[in-house]
Amino acid sequence: MLFLSESPTHGLERGIFASQVLVKGNMARPAISMMLMLSIILPQACAALAAMTTALGVIEDKSAVSPQTETAPQPWERYRLPDTLSPVHYNITLWPRLTKNEHGLYVFTGHSTVDFECVKETDLILIHSSKLNLIKSSGHHATLTGLGGAVAPTIKTTWLQETTEYLVIQLNSKLEPGKSYQLYSSFQGELTEDLNGFYRSHYSEGTESKVVAASHLQPTDAREVFPCFDEPALKAVFHVAIIHDHGASALSNSMETDVVNITIDGHDVSQTTFKPTKLMSTYLVAFVVCDYSHIKTHEIPDVLIRLWAKRELLVGRYGDYALNITVPLLTRLEAMFDITFPLDKYDQVALPDYSAYPMENWGLVTYREVVLWYDPKLSPHKDREWVTITVAHELAHTWFGNLVTLKWWNDLWLNEAFASYMSYVVSNQVKPDMNLMDMMLLIYPKEIMGQDAQTDSLPLSCPEEEVKTPEDIGLMFTQITYSKGVLVLHMLSNFLTETVFLQGLRTYLKQFSFSSVTPANLWHHLQNAVDGSPEVKLPASVGDIMNRWILQMGYPVVTIDTTTGTISQRHFLLDPNAVVQRPSFYKYEWIVPITWMKSGIEQNKVWLIHKSDVCEAMKTDREWVLANLNMSGYFRVNYDLENWHRLITQLGANHEEIPAVSRARIIDDAFNLARAKVISTTLALRTTKYLRRERELLPWEAALDNLEYFFHMFQRSAVYSPMQVYLKKQVQPLFRHFKNITSNWTDIPSKHTDKYTQANVISLACEVGLEECRQLVTAWYGEWMSNPDINPIPPHLKQKVYCAALSEGGRREWDFGWQEFNLRADATEHAHSDMRSSLACTRVPRLLHRYVRYMMDPNKNQMLDIAETTSYVASNVVGEPVAWNFVVTKWDDISYSYGPESNELADLILKVTKRFSSKEKVDELQSFRKVLSQAGLDSAVRAVEKAIQRTEDNIRWVAENLEQVQEWFSREGTLRGENGLE
Ligand SMILES: *[C@@H]1O[C@H](CO)[C@@H](O)[C@H](O)[C@H]1NC(C)=O
Ligand SMILES: *[C@@H]1O[C@H](CO)[C@@H](O)[C@H](O)[C@H]1NC(C)=O
Ligand SMILES: [Zn+2]
Repeated sequence: MLFLSESPTHGLERGIFASQVLVKGNMARPAISMMLMLSIILPQACAALAAMTTALGVIEDKSAVSPQTETAPQPWERYRLPDTLSPVHYNITLWPRLTKNEHGLYVFTGHSTVDFECVKETDLILIHSSKLNLIKSSGHHATLTGLGGAVAPTIKTTWLQETTEYLVIQLNSKLEPGKSYQLYSSFQGELTEDLNGFYRSHYSEGTESKVVAASHLQPTDAREVFPCFDEPALKAVFHVAIIHDHGASALSNSMETDVVNITIDGHDVSQTTFKPTKLMSTYLVAFVVCDYSHIKTHEIPDVLIRLWAKRELLVGRYGDYALNITVPLLTRLEAMFDITFPLDKYDQVALPDYSAYPMENWGLVTYREVVLWYDPKLSPHKDREWVTITVAHELAHTWFGNLVTLKWWNDLWLNEAFASYMSYVVSNQVKPDMNLMDMMLLIYPKEIMGQDAQTDSLPLSCPEEEVKTPEDIGLMFTQITYSKGVLVLHMLSNFLTETVFLQGLRTYLKQFSFSSVTPANLWHHLQNAVDGSPEVKLPASVGDIMNRWILQMGYPVVTIDTTTGTISQRHFLLDPNAVVQRPSFYKYEWIVPITWMKSGIEQNKVWLIHKSDVCEAMKTDREWVLANLNMSGYFRVNYDLENWHRLITQLGANHEEIPAVSRARIIDDAFNLARAKVISTTLALRTTKYLRRERELLPWEAALDNLEYFFHMFQRSAVYSPMQVYLKKQVQPLFRHFKNITSNWTDIPSKHTDKYTQANVISLACEVGLEECRQLVTAWYGEWMSNPDINPIPPHLKQKVYCAALSEGGRREWDFGWQEFNLRADATEHAHSDMRSSLACTRVPRLLHRYVRYMMDPNKNQMLDIAETTSYVASNVVGEPVAWNFVVTKWDDISYSYGPESNELADLILKVTKRFSSKEKVDELQSFRKVLSQAGLDSAVRAVEKAIQRTEDNIRWVAENLEQVQEWFSREGTLRGENGLE
């Protein structure tokens, strides 16, 4: 699944989208990653991690896990199924009702059978079932029959065990090993709106209001739709039939075989039957009933590829790009893994927004519709990137997740990290113009390296025993699994070489097709590939190297001292005083592959296998040494001061001798090392001096990302003016560069990454007061105001230009923006959200108050998400007090609309308070904390506590840095020439 949700226990994959919002400075920053917040709200997974792992990371004693009581728990009190039964085949018939029944409820009814084999003698059947109303027959919740001549024992008693979500069936005699049986049940459930299980979603088409029924069963909600052995390793064949109204379309994982008209209890309905599926996991089963239309392609022999959506969107051809890109992506993936797509159809369904998270249900992938739309004329370039990456991610799950599945959820990264990483690899091959491998190295470090440098981070893989309940499983869907997973796989592919990496994956995928895996299976196949490739030399086995990266949280900072040639490693923590509580068998040491260059010439890779070592070749007093080339490894690098100076000098003299990805890493490492007090803040600032000559996206992004904190801390202080002067000087050449390459802003840059850079440059240049920039945005916006039907602003610049223009403008500009926002509300989602965030950019407090008021007005707030809009307002330095005041005074209303324990609320508190850096604010937070804690709002209280902590950190940081930073900016801002002191 793709990380989208705010909800930790359910659908996720927001990361990929959040991270691509490349907004800078004090501009509104929509969809900020949820991970910061996850770490406060959620109890810790992997609690006793290291204590329970052996050298190989394998649990020694499975039975010693729940020793709380004297008596061992009953089988139905354990969250994992016993290994007595093995499902083979399900027959499922479902009838979702898309209209309310007489009690005002949307329900579905159904019945199902599961054929299973008895593996070990038992008189107990445990099968998952939750929230289903099982209809009793002869006094029991299910009926049992023997298959192939087996005689079924009679049922003694049945009951529902709610905590563990089982239907428990006790038998009067034993099931026999080797024999097969069939369990039948008939049931009723609710089609809720909570986006999990079998749910409904409402949308309008023209003036008509419609309902679509869809399912999202990952990770543990199949049991809410039909009784099943709901563990990923228990694969079976699913034979599905769906009953629906005439004319509606019913979809499931496999191809529909026939549609017949039938009459049930006097209702004339249709029944669509589907081919039996391949052997697959329960969480990948899917059902959709809709009144959609579809487009399709037969370009791949034997695979019908369709895209389903509401008609108007298909008529507008917004789905064409997604459908067309599916073909080359699928073909490339097949070739890469040497396994053809195993199904005969691939449906992609666009569900109404805010209803679906992209989910890789096998053969029936569901998306939220905005994720799939691309209009070559109107959509910004990033949509093309998102659509490509998202479609590729879900396709890659075909091999990683669907065909070869994690044995248990503790190794979710085996599905998600691979799908995420492969989506970049394959998209980069299909659309090389987007520089996607660079985009990957822009997005993921930003998402994860901050979080993973805290003591409360988590390892990529937890011991199986630590992940039991549905809540534990939900906790695995974190940014660690996705983002760290991507970077760790990138490192693995780099040190194995891509050829060996892919070769190992091919045999791994072949051997475990239609089966399930643990990391040990993966290491084994990669090791075989290494053993067959003499050119790849490793200092230890693949498993030995990788377990350190998988089973330990965090990552190292590698320090290279060129005066002695010493290389050493240390667990990198942003807080120099933090104490790590979680023990690690590997003592937070890693086996680190270090690529490096000396004065522009790449050298042989070095492996750091101990805490410290000497590499003679790195000893030098003249040449510059640069390690972790193109971010081939997941770590940070520090150097002796002399080498830092030499690197900075090189950047000033000819930065292109250092690859762009590495230039970005130098900046990012320097700022993070400064935060951790390893180097001085001014040394970090010096890495930005060469930016006057920088034209590439990644280094600028790294700088802007890190300077954002300086904006937050100093925007209202005396530092801001010299900082503005300095940044104006740095950004002006880039601004001019774009003016030139776009023929005075009339063309659109052809290079994909340049479009991001262009948006960044406008945002920054206007923010720091470059007059030409202000004129440009004001003129653009004015032209649009005078002729609202023709918007002259290029799509990829809209958000930045609107924001800058509204920031410059007053009431007239704001009223026009508000009017546009409402007028074009349903045109394209982006015009819509661009304006939504931009309306918060005005510097007129009265207008910000008005915006906030509109949110609470039921006639106006239809399209304004309160938490999101308030966060936008808070991103604006003028808006911050408005937003904070709003949160404190209207807390009851806000929390009512989200529910007291919702993540949005905790997230909102953290966003609104991010600039806080005074004692006064600590006091205000303390009193707010009191109010919340009296109301018993635990997750909000935790968020406020985190905000208090952060405010105190900020106070300290400002006290330590204000003077030197002010002095530095003042000096550098007034210096002439590019290299300043160099
Ligand atoms: C499953 O149901 C179909 C009809 O929907 C029937 O033809 C088939 O025999 C059933 N299979 C099993 C194994 O019960
Ligand atoms: C099913 O019934 C509908 C409505 O009466 C009709 O339009 C359709 O042609 C019928 N389909 C079949 C296969 O008989
Ligand atoms: Zn996924």
